[in-house]
Amino acid sequence: MVTRVIEFKNVSLVYPNGHQGLKNINLKINDGEFVVVVGMSGAGKSTLIRSINRMVTPTEGELLIDNENILSYKEKHLRKLRTEVGMIFQNYNLVKRMSVLRNVMAGRLGHTGTLRSMLGLFPQEDLQMAMGNLNRVGIQEKAYVRADQLSGGQQQRVSIARVLTQQPKVILADEPVASLDPPTSHKVMKDLRRVSKEDNLTTLVNLHFIDMAQEYADRIIGLRDGEVVFDGPIDQVSEKTFEEIYGRPIKEDDLLGGDES
Ligand SMILES: Nc1ncnc2c1ncn2[C@@H]1O[C@H](COP(=O)(O)OP(=O)(O)OP(=O)(O)O)[C@@H](O)[C@H]1O
Ligand SMILES: [Mg+2]
Repeated sequence: MVTRVIEFKNVSLVYPNGHQGLKNINLKINDGEFVVVVGMSGAGKSTLIRSINRMVTPTEGELLIDNENILSYKEKHLRKLRTEVGMIFQNYNLVKRMSVLRNVMAGRLGHTGTLRSMLGLFPQEDLQMAMGNLNRVGIQEKAYVRADQLSGGQQQRVSIARVLTQQPKVILADEPVASLDPPTSHKVMKDLRRVSKEDNLTTLVNLHFIDMAQEYADRIIGLRDGEVVFDGPIDQVSEKTFEEIYGRPIKEDDLLGGDES
């Protein structure tokens, strides 16, 4: 059976300029869990999730995915890691001039090989999977439209379809709805959570707004100054929890609001 367990064991990260981004992190993220990471700007949220696909590399400790320490990975293993750990970005990272379907097919790059995919030689079942994943996020009819013709919410759905087409074990999402208006943010978070659960993908999402975190997370991890200051299931989380994580009272700016459904 495939498991998708991520373990941080005494993980620290010191950036080349000497700034300590992560301090002695110990966490076990379980198979299929939907985790939201919260904390003030600069707390280390991006650093934590980027460690999991080695966009940044911790300088101490062990980071295990399915019991393998990914911190020792080089070239070939790193490429495999980045196929197994999919990423969703705030600014979608689509190739603007390419069609939606082409962008989604880019999810197959790690499987198909660069030359074959540059030549457009994708297996038929990959095309079907890509179309199926566009359908799952409700934008199948946009398949042949140029990516930059879509709204922000639609573009983020393309990036969700792309990451699903990659067939990863893990999804990382760094502020995936920070560029979207409140109703669209909720729609995209609902889609992300639903597909992640349907495919049993272990998912870590960084979010700024505490009401969103509370609505979508199974579990909340709170960071401050590179340290885990809270880790618990959503039913143990209250406004007081966020005040402890943020080190100050909750303000209106900390809430997105606007869930109309
Ligand atoms: N490449 C780098 N070199 C040096 N310091 C860095 C680097 N990247 C991040 N930092 C610092 O590490 C700390 C954590 O940064 P990180 O980007 O993980 O925070 P964050 O919680 O994601 O913040 P935000 O909410 O603003 O995105 C910050 O103090 C930041 O300035
Ligand atoms: Mg960040």
